[in-house]
Amino acid sequence: MSGIDKYAVFGNPIKHSKSPAIHAAFARQCEQQMQYRAVLVELDGFKRAANRFFADDGVGLNVTVPFKREAFEFADCLSTRAQRAGAVNTLSRRDDGDIEGDNTDGIGLVRDMIANLGWVVQGMRVLVLGAGGAVRGVLEPLLREKPRQLLVVNRTPEKARQLAAEFADIAPLEGGAYSLIGERQFDLIINATSAGLSGQMPELPGTVLTERSCCYDMVYGSEPTAFMRWAAHNTAWAVADGLGMLVEQAAQSFYIWRGVRPETGPVIRQIRDALAAA
Ligand code: ATR
Repeated sequence: MSGIDKYAVFGNPIKHSKSPAIHAAFARQCEQQMQYRAVLVELDGFKRAANRFFADDGVGLNVTVPFKREAFEFADCLSTRAQRAGAVNTLSRRDDGDIEGDNTDGIGLVRDMIANLGWVVQGMRVLVLGAGGAVRGVLEPLLREKPRQLLVVNRTPEKARQLAAEFADIAPLEGGAYSLIGERQFDLIINATSAGLSGQMPELPGTVLTERSCCYDMVYGSEPTAFMRWAAHNTAWAVADGLGMLVEQAAQSFYIWRGVRPETGPVIRQIRDALAAA
């Protein structure tokens, strides 16, 4: 048995995961002795692989697409954030042997917008596009920042209405069809749809932006996404992709596991440079 604490990320696909590079950079920076591997898990093999990982002295696991719901079910206990999100991206073995599930995606998003980009959520009018797992994962931390309004719109309106009903006890929010946007304007627009993966862009009127609006796409790539191009074309004040969110959610997982908070700025720059060079 090696003395180095073992961590991994499970996903399918996993080849392009940036998590090993991010955690290696954190470990170097914080002088932590740890090993972190990316593991391709068969689509029907999550539970088996996770059981084996923890039986084999694994201490912490990140979980990505498509296993976040299964990780939620796998955990012996859950943080309140993970309960709300209905999904887990971080599993940790506790001292008593139980496996605890957490979800750091929402914190990652909020930290990136507020601490890294200097954007403001409190008191702002926020529009969220999409109502899938990605939105469910971030709504609680977003609502805790106390936006003045939060509207969730989705191609399938019922899913947005359902989410709004589920989170309404935290703070007021609305959910429904894109037509709810009407003539309204928003200070912050967050794209959490998967439309961009096929180069598409949800139907949005350019009038939804003011000259101070910020636009955040939760996905990232080496090129600006369709949503980012739309935002720039409609003269948004600031535009960002989800790379900072990725590094911030990793930093929160690292903090849960190691008890130290890495500095994320240099790591975001490192991963950005590697993307550009690829
Ligand atoms: P994730 O876990 O990334 O949220 P998901 O649960 O499959 O993935 O959700 C994808 C989201 O993108 C949904 O809100 C989906 O809308 P529907 O609920 O109507 O399917 C949205 N989406 C995908 N393609 C879209 C498109 N071309 N235009 C608008 N919304 C789209």
